[in-house]
Amino acid sequence: MLANLTLRGRTAVITGGAQGIGLAVTRELASLGARCVIWDVREQAGAEAVESLAAGGVEAEFMQVDVTDVDAVSAAFDVVLTGSGSLDVLVTSAGVALHGSSLEVAPDDWQRVLDVNTNGTFWCAREAAKRMAPGSTIVAVGSISGEIANTPQAQTAYNASKGAVHLIVRCLAVELAGAGVRVNAVAPGFVDTDLLGGLPPDWRERWTAMTPMGRLARVEEVASVIGFLATDAASYMTGAVVPVDGGYLAW
Ligand SMILES: NC(=O)c1ccc[n+]([C@@H]2O[C@H](COP(=O)([O-])OP(=O)(O)OC[C@H]3O[C@@H](n4cnc5c(N)ncnc54)[C@H](O)[C@@H]3O)[C@@H](O)[C@H]2O)c1
Repeated sequence: MLANLTLRGRTAVITGGAQGIGLAVTRELASLGARCVIWDVREQAGAEAVESLAAGGVEAEFMQVDVTDVDAVSAAFDVVLTGSGSLDVLVTSAGVALHGSSLEVAPDDWQRVLDVNTNGTFWCAREAAKRMAPGSTIVAVGSISGEIANTPQAQTAYNASKGAVHLIVRCLAVELAGAGVRVNAVAPGFVDTDLLGGLPPDWRERWTAMTPMGRLARVEEVASVIGFLATDAASYMTGAVVPVDGGYLAW
């Protein structure tokens, strides 16, 4: 079955692909043979991502798409479909994080996190599913924060948004199983990306101490699990939320 660990001839859209986990996923899926289309809200960052991939011999395209805009998402999927004839893989990695007391969070901030992480995931998954043939697959990037309360930082909006992503994945997996579309999520622990940039160093120390493996993840370690889930090697997996967390959720 591991001979099925390939995406040759398939087209993949990766949201939030301009950097971090999404960019690593693009590299991984391209190395498995997929034609990769990066979506990101930041145009300049997207262009730079394509350039940096090309410098490493990886071909990818970029489209500026805001995942919170369902009409833009729908139109962008039509462009991908027209260009390649099929939409086989969607990875939803676009996300934002917000830290701070629940008692003080501003309504706009709360809404923004839910809009990008939860609504954006749903709009992309739904619009993709409408255009997918049997054998296609969706992988959402959830988080350990969708399963637990974090410490030392307060971040209720983020945790609520990711808990919802995990349930969206389970619900869509059930709803789309008959159509032959698999839907799974990964739940990364702490991954060394810009999302964690600028945070107090003692937070990082605390997270490391709370992780049995004693370190943060590298983006490639999350991307490889997503790559596996996207291939037919995972053909009997749907509705799964797979921790990639160095053991964080195990104790
Ligand atoms: N870094 C971690 O520790 C960690 C842990 C668990 C889960 N995650 C999740 O992994 C995913 C990727 O995180 P990352 O660490 O690579 O973050 P990142 O900030 O490095 O990258 C996120 C990307 O999403 C894009 N984006 C934001 N809003 C968007 C929108 N409305 N439309 C399109 N693109 C948008 C950003 O421009 C950016 O390129 C997120 O969903 C995040 O919640 C990250």
